Amino acid sequence: MSFSPRDFRDCLGQFTTGVAVVTTRAKDGSKAGITINSFASVSLDPALVLFSVDARAATHALFAGECTEFCINILHQDQKNISELFSAPGQTEWDDIGYESDSLGMPRLKGSLAAFTCKRHAIHDGGDHSIIVGHVQELVMGQTGAPLLYYGGRYRALEG
Ligand SMILES: Cc1cc2nc3c(=O)[nH]c(=O)nc-3n(C[C@H](O)[C@H](O)[C@H](O)COP(=O)(O)O)c2cc1C
Repeated sequence: MSFSPRDFRDCLGQFTTGVAVVTTRAKDGSKAGITINSFASVSLDPALVLFSVDARAATHALFAGECTEFCINILHQDQKNISELFSAPGQTEWDDIGYESDSLGMPRLKGSLAAFTCKRHAIHDGGDHSIIVGHVQELVMGQTGAPLLYYGGRYRALEG
């Protein structure tokens, strides 16, 4: 390979994405979530979406293991603090986070632009990540407004 890991990350950073938080509930009832920008649509019929989760992330064992149901929350530009909470190392403190239960009992974050309630459809090998494919069970169009964006390693806002 003629490029360094830094070069790879810098080039990937030229692709503008939205930001989402994937939430779930473990068998013991505890809530967990992770900030992602690897969300993508996969299939319209059946309705499939995906995200990839780092094998080193604390939540990897859940999403690749016992947590077969999850909610993908697409963040509004006013939810940068939520993105920061769910991307910080260690367990997330949920006390100040507004959420409601979706139809599968997963925590759906209030104030999000949209939410996809999913049952896990497949897990694929993605190198140092696992690719989690979700079968969408419920859709919610939430808050109107602009998305939180991520570009060049920084949060951005839509202009115009
Ligand atoms: C904007 C943004 C996008 C991210 N996208 C992903 C992603 O797609 N997959 C992933 O595994 N981690 C992603 N991360 C990193 C995780 O959010 C973070 O490493 C993780 O929550 C760290 O905590 P943990 O190891 O305690 O789980 C992203 C972080 C940010 C700020």
